[in-house]
Amino acid sequence: MEVIILAAGKGTRMSSNKPKVLHTIAGKPMVEHVLDSVLALGPSKVHVVIGYGSDEIYSFFEKTQSGQEIFWALQEEQLGTAHAVQQASSAIDADVKDNQVLILYGDVPLIQPDTLRKLLSGANDKNISLITLTTNNNKGLGRILRNESGQVTGIIEERDADKAQREITEVNSGIMAIPAVRLKSWLDRVKNTNKQSEYYLTDVVGLAVADGYEVNTVTTADTLEVQGVNDKAQLALMERHYQMKNNNKLLEQGVTMSDPGRVDVRGTLNCGKDVIIDVNVIFEGAVNLGDNVTIAPNVIIKNSTIAEGSNILAGSIIEDSKIGRETNIGPYARVRPGTIIKNKAKVGNFVEIKKSTLGEGTKANHLAYIGDAEIGDNCNIGAGTIFCNYDGADKHKTILGDNVFIGSNSVLVAPIKLSDNAFVAAGSTVNVDVPEENLAVGRAKQRNVSGWKRPVKKTGE
Ligand code: UD1
Ligand code: CA
Repeated sequence: MEVIILAAGKGTRMSSNKPKVLHTIAGKPMVEHVLDSVLALGPSKVHVVIGYGSDEIYSFFEKTQSGQEIFWALQEEQLGTAHAVQQASSAIDADVKDNQVLILYGDVPLIQPDTLRKLLSGANDKNISLITLTTNNNKGLGRILRNESGQVTGIIEERDADKAQREITEVNSGIMAIPAVRLKSWLDRVKNTNKQSEYYLTDVVGLAVADGYEVNTVTTADTLEVQGVNDKAQLALMERHYQMKNNNKLLEQGVTMSDPGRVDVRGTLNCGKDVIIDVNVIFEGAVNLGDNVTIAPNVIIKNSTIAEGSNILAGSIIEDSKIGRETNIGPYARVRPGTIIKNKAKVGNFVEIKKSTLGEGTKANHLAYIGDAEIGDNCNIGAGTIFCNYDGADKHKTILGDNVFIGSNSVLVAPIKLSDNAFVAAGSTVNVDVPEENLAVGRAKQRNVSGWKRPVKKTGE
């Protein structure tokens, strides 16, 4: 089985400069959703027809590491869906026995592998297979024509349909399987004598029937699975549909959500037992939450693991990081890429951490910047501490042993090392290593001026 994904159209109704199929659902371009679904079927080849914005689509796929080789076909002018398939048809192995060509549209993103399997299970070298849908919401879609005995005789596009045909509620999803050996000859016979002067792929169905082929149809209960996206309203509808379906799966697994309509998963979320997720939370990429993890409102977590019993408090952002067991993060903490926070550590409000390790039981409870640091266990990072990791040209590391105490409003100028049990007096600028058990005082000495007079406001000038 080979696959052709049509993705050459501009998508005028999206009112965007971006090619339509690169618009995303759950953070992933529509065409990638389609690609992922077909890859689950193990096709021998995947062809993608591109045209409008081809460079952008091409470079997007170059970056995604699906590992699957893609056969590209360029459709310079978008003359219709049959013309698009034709651009890929010369690369199809028509000689391979029983080879089927599965054709999908890049703008019908939520099609599921199981539905495609159902379609292919009925496909053979004597028929054409189609996914159809019965809906009152048939506007703009191709209508399925059947004879008195119920056999499909063709598809008519809405623009070309007469009044009675427009009443038909069974419509074309655009997804079909065609025997490879006949594909090219049927495409060659498609004409563009219709209202849009386009070469319609749907005309292949009528041609196949005329050649004595049968049409095998399958349907799906989930109508949005075969819903095309032509404008931003449909894109938003599909996004909500996708999120609701995904969140319902999480609820079934036992996750508690105050409102599944206000949690978005743009990637994959794995949850342990008794996870609680409050409202307005976004998960991106691969996120793992251990048992008894709680996520407060307005949190964003991307590509990170949070171990069991940890609480992520309101307004926090965590990215590409590993958070240990029974930690408290936030409210309003920003944990940037490359951070490891060990068990029972605490990161409080307005603390920013980047590419650093916080040891077990270490606390940074308020207002701090920690960058490029290795911090041991049971340290205390006082309010207003800045890890000064950048000298204007390069980044440098700060190393803290265990039980180090940093008094409030201190600056640690990297590269620097503070050994076990070191203690920094509040308000210090520390730029010399501090040995074990030492107190570092790095601030201007206070002097008190007696008899000093406050300035008085001048008047009469
Ligand atoms: C198409 C079907 C219609 C079906 C509907 C389902 C045809 C003629 N009509 O209509 O029966 O009900 O999908 O959503 O096929 N494309 C190209 N090159 C082109 C034209 C289109 O690659 O020259 C691609 C588009 O990028 C898109 C897909 O083919 O991904 C469908 O094209 P579109 O113009 O959206 O077709 P519809 O009018 O939606
Ligand atoms: Ca469409």
